[in-house]
Amino acid sequence: MSVNVYESSEELAEAAAREFAARADEAIDERGRFAVVLAGGSTPEATYEILARDYADRIDWSNVHVFFGDERSVPPDHEDSNYRMAREALLDHVPVGSVHRMRGELPPDEAAEANEQELRGFFGSEELPRFDLILLGIGGDGHTASLFPETSALEVHDRWVVANPVLKLETTRLTLTVPVINAARAVYFLVAGEGKADALAEILEGDPDPRGYPASLIQPQGGPTWMLDRPAASELP
Ligand code: 6PG
Repeated sequence: MSVNVYESSEELAEAAAREFAARADEAIDERGRFAVVLAGGSTPEATYEILARDYADRIDWSNVHVFFGDERSVPPDHEDSNYRMAREALLDHVPVGSVHRMRGELPPDEAAEANEQELRGFFGSEELPRFDLILLGIGGDGHTASLFPETSALEVHDRWVVANPVLKLETTRLTLTVPVINAARAVYFLVAGEGKADALAEILEGDPDPRGYPASLIQPQGGPTWMLDRPAASELP
């Protein structure tokens, strides 16, 4: 695990874009393709915009294949859609090889099954999918992707994508499961803002109950890379 602190969210976004490009070059050199999972929410948007603005000619986008860590149960043009955010910030501006959005417009169980079949089609149906890079955020409650505290998805180990009822949000979210995230070659958390400081300190320095802090379940080989701005890191020693 490595923890990198940046003075501002802008510097964090610039660094994350550099890391994204480095991992893409490495994967395409070694395996001819870059399978990347994009995070939703608001934090990664600045990184996606930098990639679209400054990396259009610096990444072999036709060999970049885009997936999502989670999605809300909304249509792809809805203001809450993670896909819509990524499309507007990045995917409309660079010619990626393929996009495999979670179809939030479908009934959640159907959407989860459909996305899992897409993953199995891309990676082959047996072993866990090995994404080259998975980008994640965390919520102030310690959730990541749509793995929320005390929800059923935390214990699912025989599926790659699930519909996860989140009672406190009065909705059902779609999310990759813990084993899929932990099988990735690299997992980067992008975390900005004071509001994440307590959860981050608990996850990085505490001994959190994973059901209360699902982000602590994310333990890929070599550990995740944490990319923080100074406010988010303010509770760390
Ligand atoms: C989502 C995200 C979620 C997000 C965190 C942080 O669908 O909202 O996948 O896990 O990463 O909630 O969100 P912010 O970046 O908006 O703080």
